[in-house]
Parts: sequence; C-alpha cells; structure tokens
Amino acid sequence: MRGIVFLCLLGCSLAQNLTYSWNGPGTSSQGDPNAANECLTDTQTCGCCLMQKQMWRMETFFNMSLAELQRGLERAQGVLNTMRSSRSAFSVALTDTRRCVGPNRADVVVQYQSVFINLGDGYSVSTGVFTVPRSGVYALALTVYSDAGAVGVLLAACGRMRRNGRVIAALNEYNTQDQEDSATVVLAVQMQAGDKVDVILPATCYLCDDNSHYNTFSGFLLYATD
Ligand SMILES: *[C@@H]1O[C@H](CO)[C@@H](O)[C@H](O)[C@H]1NC(C)=O
Ligand SMILES: *[C@@H]1O[C@H](CO)[C@@H](O)[C@H](O)[C@H]1NC(C)=O
Repeated sequence: MRGIVFLCLLGCSLAQNLTYSWNGPGTSSQGDPNAANECLTDTQTCGCCLMQKQMWRMETFFNMSLAELQRGLERAQGVLNTMRSSRSAFSVALTDTRRCVGPNRADVVVQYQSVFINLGDGYSVSTGVFTVPRSGVYALALTVYSDAGAVGVLLAACGRMRRNGRVIAALNEYNTQDQEDSATVVLAVQMQAGDKVDVILPATCYLCDDNSHYNTFSGFLLYATD
C-alpha cells in the first residue's frame, strides 16, 4: 500500500500539468479537460494520479470523521465530569447503640448519628439537616420504628419529613395494640440548591433504635436540573 502511494507521488510529480480540484467527500471533482487525452498517452501515470486523488479524498473523509468523533467524546467527557462533581447521596440511621429519643414536650429535629454515606457532605450530623447541594430531582426516604417495651403500652412511632420547614410527608404509628411497629415513606421531589430537608419528631412520639438501624433517613440526587 505504502509502495503504491510512493509510486503515485513519483508519477504525479512527473505530470504536473494534471490538476484536480477538491469538492469534498461524495462529490465528483472536475478534472483537467485534457486528462482524458493524458490517459490515452500515459495511462500508468494517470491511473496512479487518480488513485492518489481517491486516497486523499478518503484521508480527508477519515480526518473529518475522526474530528467529529473527538468532538463527541469531549462533549461526553464534559457531561460525565459534571455528573461526577455533582454527586449527592446521604443515608443515616438514628444510633448504633440501644437508645430511644423522645417523647419530648415539643417537636424536635431528629439528629441521626450513624452515617452510612454522606457523598457531597449535604447531611449535617450536628443539626440533622440535609442541605441540597445542587438543584434537581431527589429521592427521599424515611423509616421510623419504635418499641413500647410491652403490649398495651402506648406506641408512638412518628416522624414528619420537612422541606424548608414545611411538612412534605408524615408517618404516624400511634396505638396501644402493638409493642413494636415501623412505617416508611419514599418520595421523589424536585428541589433547589440550598433547600433544607429534615425530620421532625413530634411531641409525645418516640423512636427506639440500636445497631440494627431500624430508623433511617436517606436521600440522593436522581438527576440535576441546572
Ligand atoms: C505541460 O504544460 C506545458 C506548458 O503548459 C506543455 O508545454 C507541455 O506539453 C505539457 N505537458 C503535458 C504532458 O501535457
Ligand atoms: C489528515 O490528518 C493528518 C494528521 O492530522 C494530517 O497530517 C493530514 O495532512 C490530513 N490529511 C488531509 C487530507 O487533510
């Protein structure tokens, strides 16, 4: 293949009078009107030149295709980098050692202390609040559990998930029929960067947990919208 190209280059340099115009891939180029006559007198040189012309056309086509692929790759890498830099996921449990929180006389924010994951550092252990790092659609989940200690005692496993102080979902297991009970809610919510999500333990309710992690609060970014 390389030998043919060299031969062509040699052949064409000897036939400088033959000129071809380039009209891009897929279009026919107008050659020298004398080319036909040329081919009658010097078929070898002419054939070589036509071949070189085709190869140049192919090379240009491949160069253009390659450039297009490279642009596509750069775009995809840009999107991937944005996705990586905006990853956000938290999942926390109430405690690692056996403990109950509540009942309190007023509503309090639950401070989940056992952290499974806090990608992007959106969740604060000291406040119990998740601050949305990036606008987008988030999945949020809350599970509450409590243990009354004995049958017939008031069981009050409750929780209210709030966004910017407004309740978006509530769980309420308030009865004297069960010693233990749990409830779960899962949501998909469109949120803005800076929004604050927390869980309220209503007055008179109480949650119990140990290293089985019966009480969990989780959220993660499904996709960004900015
Ligand atoms: C190339 O061009 C020159 C001058 O235009 C002419 O004298 C010569 O005959 C041409 N050669 C061929 C191979 O056509
Ligand atoms: C194709 O690309 C190579 C490398 O950039 C370059 O050397 C060559 O001249 C290009 N060929 C054409 C026909 O544009």
